[in-house]
Amino acid sequence: MPGISRREVLLGGAAALAAAATGAVAASRANAVDLTLRASMLRHSILPGTTTEGMMSFHADGPPPVLRLPQGKPFSIDVVNELEEATIVHWHGLRIANAMDGVPYLTQAPIAPGNSFRYTLAAPDAGTYWYHPHCNTLEQMARGLTGVLVVEDEEDPGFDRDLPLNIRDFRLGSDGQFIELFKPRNAARGGTLGTVGTVNWEVAPTYDLAAGSLVRLRLAVTDVTRVGTYDLEGGTALVIALDANPLAQPIAPKGIVMAPGQRADIALRVPDSAGDIVSLSLRTPQGPRLLARFRPLGASIRRRLDELKPLRPNPIPQADLANAETIDFIFGWSPGGDAPAPSICGTLGYTFWSINRVAGQSDIPGPGEPLAVLKQGRSYVLRLRNETPNDHPIHLHGMSFRLLRSDKRKVAPLVTDTALLLSKETMEVALVADNPGDWAFHCHVIEHQRTGLSGYLRVE
Ligand code: C2O
Ligand code: CU
Ligand code: CU
Repeated sequence: MPGISRREVLLGGAAALAAAATGAVAASRANAVDLTLRASMLRHSILPGTTTEGMMSFHADGPPPVLRLPQGKPFSIDVVNELEEATIVHWHGLRIANAMDGVPYLTQAPIAPGNSFRYTLAAPDAGTYWYHPHCNTLEQMARGLTGVLVVEDEEDPGFDRDLPLNIRDFRLGSDGQFIELFKPRNAARGGTLGTVGTVNWEVAPTYDLAAGSLVRLRLAVTDVTRVGTYDLEGGTALVIALDANPLAQPIAPKGIVMAPGQRADIALRVPDSAGDIVSLSLRTPQGPRLLARFRPLGASIRRRLDELKPLRPNPIPQADLANAETIDFIFGWSPGGDAPAPSICGTLGYTFWSINRVAGQSDIPGPGEPLAVLKQGRSYVLRLRNETPNDHPIHLHGMSFRLLRSDKRKVAPLVTDTALLLSKETMEVALVADNPGDWAFHCHVIEHQRTGLSGYLRVE
């Protein structure tokens, strides 16, 4: 037996430990986290003159921060759960690896209180996105956990300022406290609307913008329920992208319909004189509701909209329609029967809706069967049929699709991750199933999602 003393073993052990430590340091440097998000409770003033208790944010004393990711490069985010319940974070609209998609049991376990999870996101497409929990989703989003996420363009288009607008309601009473977050009878219809409209957690804020400058407004509707029509009045402005994808023909920012989960990028040329206020408003049955005002400040710097470089189209594969297989999806009432299964991610306690006659189980698209199995690399047409009298913004994770046609209206060939399916409408959309994994597929009216209108597609 070779003579190895106890001391040598110890030294060897120490050397091995030292080597391991060095390796660990090197590895942690290589894997340095770019950002830490802490989900926590807070109190904050939303309604002037009141303080709302029981809010949730990814920021210690204000709204969730705007995240800015580089296009095409990995970016890592540690989500630390400082709530007293499980959570999980989903990056809405990003075509990323399935394991990073943030859907409980489908892509990862929920993050328990006190635990954290590192997401590494390599976003292939530039544009405006958002992020939110996918566990106890209605409550966590309603209490504040919705933030804007920007994937920066590789080539800067030349704006003087970039201004994300996180548009959402809160359900507060006149004392500023949360009231019941939903009513079951509304969940079985269009959903329960909030009572206080906000932009970046403020009621009708005013933004000072350099007179004559070019500003990129990034509108993101992160509300749990509201399908709205928005108007930007004043200045010269064009909608340049919808749901992160540039428009070949920019359009006027009038009557922009946005459902929960949808976004619009507007290029605004701020007026030259201080008195010319630009306003963003929402159409309501009682008339326009002012959401935000933009006030020109200082001497005009006299920029022109045509100085902007056009946005580059995102590298989204084109479906091969000649060889595409069509898959039908029927959005309808619940076939009745089973109460939702209890879950660590909560349940609303009702089942009202279904996809292809199957009611999804609250937040958990599994452990049931996928609604469809798609072959990786193949093209598909999804025929989305809405049997119900309500509107449903239909959202697919992990892949973007192109709108082809509707039996109710002319649709522009937009590329999106969330399509508003109107009452009784049938719409066809096309995609290439290029991202392997199990991908959640659901309505983004969260009460609908959580009472049956959810499932998932498998790409293999
Ligand atoms: Cu915005 Cu399933 O998500
Ligand atoms: Cu999503
Ligand atoms: Cu719906």
